[in-house]
Amino acid sequence: MAPLIGAARGETVVTDSTSVNLYKVLSNAIRIQKKNYPAKKVILAERENFPSDLYMIEGFIELINEGYELVLIDNPEELEQKLNQNTAVALLAQVNYRSGYLYELAETTRLVHSLGALVVWDLCHSIGALPIDLKTADADFAVGCTYKYLNGGPGSPAMLWANPRHKNDFWQPLSGWWGHSEPFRMKSSFEGAKDIRRFLCGTQPIVSMALVHSSLDIFLKTDMQKLRAKSLSLTDLFIALVEQECAGHPLGLATPREHKNRGSHVSFTHPEGYAIVQALIARGVVGDYREPQIMRFGVAPLYLSHEDIWNAVQHLKTVLGSREWDNEKFKARSQVT
Ligand SMILES: Cc1ncc(COP(=O)(O)O)c(C=O)c1O
Repeated sequence: MAPLIGAARGETVVTDSTSVNLYKVLSNAIRIQKKNYPAKKVILAERENFPSDLYMIEGFIELINEGYELVLIDNPEELEQKLNQNTAVALLAQVNYRSGYLYELAETTRLVHSLGALVVWDLCHSIGALPIDLKTADADFAVGCTYKYLNGGPGSPAMLWANPRHKNDFWQPLSGWWGHSEPFRMKSSFEGAKDIRRFLCGTQPIVSMALVHSSLDIFLKTDMQKLRAKSLSLTDLFIALVEQECAGHPLGLATPREHKNRGSHVSFTHPEGYAIVQALIARGVVGDYREPQIMRFGVAPLYLSHEDIWNAVQHLKTVLGSREWDNEKFKARSQVT
């Protein structure tokens, strides 16, 4: 995992879910800030963050009950305006789960630090899709799932990275035995590990970890710069082909065109987005739908080809042109969209 995020061996763990890991690192970040700047009481995040991130912050604030406040920004441009001396921690997704907007990691981290705040990056939609260098950016904490571009399979455990700069302050509230300095000594009280293992909690899901392991083996044979170049070429092609082949339909591009602000998925809006995605899935083109109106197409550069992109767009053209989506079986909402 370390080479994918610009970290060294022993600086990251794969464990638990992204939501749980977020809770751990948020707790650690707030604890560090409380020690150094107790008056900082704001946790800044984006309204467009993946909802679970916001829910976890809300739960954290409720549990500690010390007057922390969640402040939300409505778009990346608002970050600079809303960051201030009261900000303790900023929680940002490197790539937005809906629009695919990509933050510049180092520049944004610098901005957050300039106000004395710490930054937690959610890498769910960037890890495995583009080169990430957390160390050079001097970020504080990062979490991210392994079941998107990292191909760990549904529900595979998430990664967690904490900057070794904070090593003396490593801490998290879920003091399970795997985070103990000597778990098999079976001591009756908790003594936390002094390294990244402090962020483990209970027994690791070994079978799921094995799948993540074999996926990471493949990444060791790739070059993330080349993968990024391919990803941009594929998403450029997808945007251009949808606009060329599906012109005349009420589609809106929700993803930035500029390479510097684009992750590896492309989202288009359509009033009937849900039914269209279902019709595409029936044809073997598996995108997903995110409220409101967003059809999201994840472009995994590791195994998708330019021909796959051409074929996917031809399916979309047919589904739109023949109104194949206009069928009750595609409109009935299921729990997972
Ligand atoms: C950006 C982002 N953050 C957090 C999560 C939550 O991940 P988990 O279900 O592993 O807690 C997701 C899930 O898709 C996500 O996309």
